[in-house]
Amino acid sequence: MTRRPIGIIVNGVTGRMGYRQHLVRSLLAIREQGGVPLADGTRIWPELVLVGRNENRLRDIAERHGLTDWTTDLTAALTRDDVEIYFDAQLTQQREKAVRQAIDAGRHVYTEKPLAEGSPAAVELARAAEAANVRTGVVQDKLFLPGLRKLKRLIDGGFFGRILSVRGEFGYWVFEGDWQPTQRPSWNYRTEDGGGIVMDMFPHWHYVLEELFAPVRAVSCVTATHIPRRVDEAGRPYPATADDAAYGIFELDGGIVAQLNSSWTVRVNRDELVEFQVDGTEGSAVAGLRNCRVQHRSVTPKPVWNPDLPSGEDFRSQWTEVPDNDEFDNGFKVQWEAFLRHVVAGEAFPWDFLAGARGVQLAELGLRSAREHRRVEVPELGR
Ligand SMILES: NC(=O)c1ccc[n+]([C@@H]2O[C@H](COP(=O)([O-])OP(=O)(O)OC[C@H]3O[C@@H](n4cnc5c(N)ncnc54)[C@H](O)[C@@H]3O)[C@@H](O)[C@H]2O)c1
Repeated sequence: MTRRPIGIIVNGVTGRMGYRQHLVRSLLAIREQGGVPLADGTRIWPELVLVGRNENRLRDIAERHGLTDWTTDLTAALTRDDVEIYFDAQLTQQREKAVRQAIDAGRHVYTEKPLAEGSPAAVELARAAEAANVRTGVVQDKLFLPGLRKLKRLIDGGFFGRILSVRGEFGYWVFEGDWQPTQRPSWNYRTEDGGGIVMDMFPHWHYVLEELFAPVRAVSCVTATHIPRRVDEAGRPYPATADDAAYGIFELDGGIVAQLNSSWTVRVNRDELVEFQVDGTEGSAVAGLRNCRVQHRSVTPKPVWNPDLPSGEDFRSQWTEVPDNDEFDNGFKVQWEAFLRHVVAGEAFPWDFLAGARGVQLAELGLRSAREHRRVEVPELGR
């Protein structure tokens, strides 16, 4: 077995996503399984360079996982001959500058979403990467969730007939931090630090809608900051300036209407933290993170509206669970493997910077719609 080592800078490895999903669940898991196999039997072997701001925390993480290569000097790391990929899971606001630096150093770049804070900057990064002939990728993890993979399988198999609408509920209660510690970083709740649920979630909604259903042509959005004051990680109260809920309507090609609620101020009365109901002429489905249930037109009940009588139907029990029929690995890891094969073996990888830029654009237009209280069309984003 030949090993093909590939040097990867992992920046932002002390953060929630950088540590858990990217380092532990993806890159270290890839090493544990013996690398990423290629068709000729070669195995791509990630060699990690941890990068961050705090020496002690980096050393801590490195030692915990038997790693030895870490530094607080990104510029120096980018000049190393054995580094081919730069990965960024930093705070969103720090991303553009670091990604630009990596492109200038001729490194391939993979990054968390959103790619940048605005679409002009995101498109500019896509252009710069193309000019520098480096390969790019943006995390689109939701596509690899078991529930959405099953939904995609139903769509590809023609289960729905003509798809009419998509209804999505995402969210949970994020504690304010006063009487119980909050479970998300406080920067998420400050616009001045790049926070806000629209910037956080619309890039996800963009690729989910575009990849599963159809391109998004217009957006109407209402946002709210329902909780205007929160308490940060250090116990200090602060004004929450960013949107913590977004109520969006997306018009898609083919007349499909998608309504997606995103909220950090909602208590969960669903089976999963995100659920999408898709209604089509031939059947409907409800997909979550892991599960997916369907109801075909042949078994659709015929409710009659009569508030004077109890309905007598147990509607939830009338749906059928879609079987796994497959093994679903961690979505972040699956996408990492695809990106590594893209870089090393030139395999196709559609989730590039331009795709990431379209996600940023939708977030930007959602915010504009909310600010201007109007429906906003989504123009084609050119290279
Ligand atoms: N794909 C997903 O589902 C998903 C989910 C959550 C977050 N994210 C994205 O991942 C990125 C990181 O989010 P997170 O929740 O892990 O955040 P986090 O606050 O837990 O981590 C932020 C990381 O950035 C580093 N950093 C660098 N410069 C910083 C600065 N000036 N101030 C503060 N931190 C700085 C921190 O040290 C830390 O390693 C964000 O861009 C976010 O949009 C993606």
